[in-house]
Amino acid sequence: MLTPGQGRSGRGKGQVRAFRGLDGADIIAGLVPPGSARQPGSTVRNHDLVFLKHFSQVIAFLVVVMIGLILLGLYFNSRIEPEENPVAVAATEARIRPVGEVYAGATGAAAAAAAAEAAAKAAAGQVAYDGTLDGQVIYEALCGACHTSGAGGAPRLERAAWAARIAQGIDTLNRHAIEGFQGEAGVMPAKGGNPALTDEQVIATVQWMLDNLK
Ligand code: HEC
Repeated sequence: MLTPGQGRSGRGKGQVRAFRGLDGADIIAGLVPPGSARQPGSTVRNHDLVFLKHFSQVIAFLVVVMIGLILLGLYFNSRIEPEENPVAVAATEARIRPVGEVYAGATGAAAAAAAAEAAAKAAAGQVAYDGTLDGQVIYEALCGACHTSGAGGAPRLERAAWAARIAQGIDTLNRHAIEGFQGEAGVMPAKGGNPALTDEQVIATVQWMLDNLK
């Protein structure tokens, strides 16, 4: 027989087994904690409580599994490289079109020439280096690329390299710098290759170069 004490300590499997061969009152006596109300004819109800306990344990376990799978899914999803947005790609292509356009054949060459001319005009219309007349700014941003390193035969800012050139007169130097100049040493591109520079800016830069010969 199952005493109340045994019944409480022996919950679980023993409890279920104890149902057989016992009458309802004995089982209730074994399952209902002392002090709680006894419910007449509620053996099935107590059986349900055991079932509910196990069932909720299974549910809780499944919830844990679910949360684990969600976290796993989020982790793997974060490792996938994001797909390129076709709208953004189209916008980028539209933005770089004047540079990125491909021209082919004779008509293509004409189109390329027209595009280059348009680009040069657009560049000429702009103010280079905010229109500064500070020769040092322009020199460091543009002319120094050749004249500091001596690239392409450009005379460096050394007095010896400039004595003969200065002897031509400052106007000739300015004109050569503005219009471009093919000498024995190499090619000095017109305005250092930036048509957006004004003549005044080039003249100011030549002056700054002559003032800073070593
Ligand atoms: C792409 C390289 C390059 C850049 C950029 C460049 N130069 Fe020159 N420059 C040269 C070369 C090469 C020479 C020498 C040409 C020769 O005498 O054969 C030269 C010569 C000169 C001369 C002397 C011309 C003469 O009659 O002897 C001046 C002045 C001059 N450059 C000014 C400038 C100024 C100002 C800038 C910037 C606005 C500039 N350069 C940018 C390559 C360059």
